Amino acid sequence: MSAAPISELITGIAELTTQADDGARLLDAALVIEDGRIAWIGAASEAPAADVSTDVGGRAALPGWVDTHTHLIFAGDRAAEFEARMAGQRYKAGGINTTVRATRAATEEQLIGNAARLRREAEAQGTTFLETKTGYGLDLESEVRSARAAAAVADVVTYLGAHVVPQGLDRRDYLDVVTGPMLAAVAPYVQYIDAFCEAGAFDVEETREVLLAGRAAGLGLRVHGNQLGFSGGVRLAVELGAASVDHCNHLDAADIDALASSTTVATLLPACDLSTREPFPPARWLLDAGANIALATNCNPGTSYTTSMPFCVAAAVLQMGLTVEEAVWAATRGAARAVGREQGADAVGSLRVGGLADLQVLDAPSVAHLAYRPGVPLTAAAWRRGVRQGLGRGLGRRDV
Ligand code: NIG
Repeated sequence: MSAAPISELITGIAELTTQADDGARLLDAALVIEDGRIAWIGAASEAPAADVSTDVGGRAALPGWVDTHTHLIFAGDRAAEFEARMAGQRYKAGGINTTVRATRAATEEQLIGNAARLRREAEAQGTTFLETKTGYGLDLESEVRSARAAAAVADVVTYLGAHVVPQGLDRRDYLDVVTGPMLAAVAPYVQYIDAFCEAGAFDVEETREVLLAGRAAGLGLRVHGNQLGFSGGVRLAVELGAASVDHCNHLDAADIDALASSTTVATLLPACDLSTREPFPPARWLLDAGANIALATNCNPGTSYTTSMPFCVAAAVLQMGLTVEEAVWAATRGAARAVGREQGADAVGSLRVGGLADLQVLDAPSVAHLAYRPGVPLTAAAWRRGVRQGLGRGLGRRDV
């Protein structure tokens, strides 16, 4: 990364997706960054002067991706489990224990190094805001290490002590630790609490107990729900006013109605669905009913070992029935809603005058290319808080 200039004009933007309240998509646009924030947005022909100028040569610009569901604090991988799944085995929550063993054996430096590597990988694909979780430590000391490591690499951290009951422990004893001393010990490093509400992990009443303990400790709520079956996680998330319920593969009409009449965001994870061969969530049904949705990578070594938001956007369009516009919204402003960062001075996922300068430029003239050219690395450049991120394809002039 280079130091931020005082002001930078970015011009030559063929299509600027702002995701601002007026839904503006500008053609032949420019914007000015000053002190990490957007100082001006408008027609390139009317752009004011700035200290430095970057001509992006007829490319599309949009907010940086907001990835609100990752599990980056882990060691090892589970390629063999993935291969077995591709040969017909079904995903089960119990595979988490494999990563728990590897994570406990790693040092905090190794955990931070691995997560930082994955964050850089995400940034190279346009991600400018990232959530991550604990959940592969599952004893007090390892969860605290995980929470500290997460706070060192992510913008927002979620406590997932209730991922599964670790092997060999009594469920009641473990829940007492998760909602008691473990919660107290991780609290300084985390903003949200989450639980995996699913067969093989935690049932609805156990999930409720965990979430209420987190709420009493001042944390926001998230739920892993309805990934492998009709777990009741969605209805509980809505009942408790959780910020998001993530996965949502198996939804009935009552789940959809509950989500549509709530502020809880359904965070959909298409890369995970491909890697576990679960049915995709009914994204069209959710949107048509009026529910809030977000898209995220769910980067983790078990079910979704990718940091690529562009891949998720393409999959949501090509496999889940979203339009490009809906998918890009869900990966930027819709995602910001899922972490309470849609409005205010620290809002992410949209570009507005006075807001944070977190943006990306595609090596393409429009966002349609994200799904039209799936799998092609289209991130040309990205800025986070006004500072150009180190990776990306670069900004030579586009000829077409
Ligand atoms: O979000 N579903 C629960 N947790 C992760 C998977 C964890 C694992 O299998 O390692 C997920 O898919």
